[in-house]
Parts: sequence; structure tokens; C-alpha cells
Amino acid sequence: MRTKIVAGNWKMNKNVSESKSLTLDIIANLNAQSQTRVIVSPPATNLATVADTAQGSKVEVAAQNMHQATSGAYTGEISADMIKSTGVEIVILGHSERREYFHENDALLAEKVNAALAAKLEIIFCFGEKLEERKAGKHFEVVKSQLSNALFHLNADAWKSIILAYEPVWAIGTGETASPEQAQEMHAFIRQTLTEKYGTAVAESVSILYGGSVKPENAVEIFSKPDVDGGLIGGASLKAADFIAIVNAA
Ligand code: 13P
Repeated sequence: MRTKIVAGNWKMNKNVSESKSLTLDIIANLNAQSQTRVIVSPPATNLATVADTAQGSKVEVAAQNMHQATSGAYTGEISADMIKSTGVEIVILGHSERREYFHENDALLAEKVNAALAAKLEIIFCFGEKLEERKAGKHFEVVKSQLSNALFHLNADAWKSIILAYEPVWAIGTGETASPEQAQEMHAFIRQTLTEKYGTAVAESVSILYGGSVKPENAVEIFSKPDVDGGLIGGASLKAADFIAIVNAA
């Protein structure tokens, strides 16, 4: 059985003390018996504090980005080793905001994926089509090429360290969410694409999260779909009560 996962992407929100108190609030209200993996992703400045705060709890911590080089003259960037040195073992790569505002493309993301895996970081890999691509009926094609360009050079074993997050760009921060049927249709397509490339064992073991305006009100219905294995949550992950309600929905 693949794992259910709910991850909160805090984006550029929360300073050190706010990150610490949100983490404590989440830990205090989590159902300790739940089988769902719970991940929070604070800004890079807060990784060490959040990792320390979450130590010994069910909450895991992810970085939001990293550079592909191991070290060097890359002002403002952080490496996989720096992330690991904070106690964090997961990194989000390929978020649409990184693609859009920081011009990250599939080739660069393939390099980042390789660097993260070499450092033994687990990866939450984000991808998804833009509104005009969906309107043009190109969403399946776009998603397939994002996956194959950045990930399909990997061997089957590497997929033990990959979590996929389908995030249609038109649903991110817009309040507009993919319908549960649209999410299921795309997730089933993604799993089929993985089956064709790697076979059933890999395809059935990879968790595929949905992201884009998931809220306590719509989480149960979206997560009830057979190929939706949880969510990557933006805005609603910034309030402990909303995030916990979404975790409980999984
Ligand atoms: P929202 O939940 O705010 O739409 O953001 C989704 C997202 O980008 C998670 O990575």
C-alpha cells in the first residue's frame, strides 16, 4: 500500500518564531495514531528551528528548494548538504512558482533531482499544466513531458525517494480547485504513464499528491479518489486548525 501524505508548503510565509509556534500547534493537535505522513515546508531560514521543534513527533520537514551544485559561488543559494545539516531529509523541487518566477526548466530540475538523490534527500516533485494548456487540451501531453524530461532518466530504485505532486497552475492560490474527477483523471494518467515506463510495482508504490486550493471543505472529496494519495497544501497549511482538518481528511 502506498502511503497517504499531507504536506504544507508555507512558501514565503512565517518567520522563525512564527514557524516554531505553527509547528508546535500542529504537533499538539495531530492524531498520533494516524497512518498519514505529515510534512511541513518552512522557508530555508527556519528549517533548523522547525526540524528541532518537530524532532520526536510525527511531523516531518521539507525544504522548498535547493541548488544543484554541492557548493560554490552561488550567492543566495543553499545546497543539499546544508539542508541535511539542519536535520531535514526532504526537499520540494519543481514548484510552479519556481518554474514561473525563477525560470526553472525541466533540464535544470533533472540536475536538481540528481543532486538531491545523491545526497539521499527524498523529493516532492511538483508539476502541472497552465490554464491555457488545459484549455488547448494539452494537459496530458504537458504533464507527461514534465515527468519524462525531469524524472524518467532515473532507475526504478530511485522512485523509492520520489513523491509526486500534481499541481495544476490554474488551481494554485486561485480558490479554484480541480474537481475530484479532474484530479482523479490526471492522477490515473500519471500512474498509467509510470506503469508504461517502470511497470506496475513502481507505479503502484509512488504517492501522487494533489495540490491547488485544497481546503478543509474540499479535502475529503478529493482525497477519496483512488489515485489521489494526499495533498500539497499552500494557503490552508498556514493555520494549524485548517491543516489538521486536511490531515484528518486523508
Ligand atoms: P494553494 O493551496 O494556496 O492553492 O497552494 C498550493 C500550492 O502551491 C502548494 O505547493
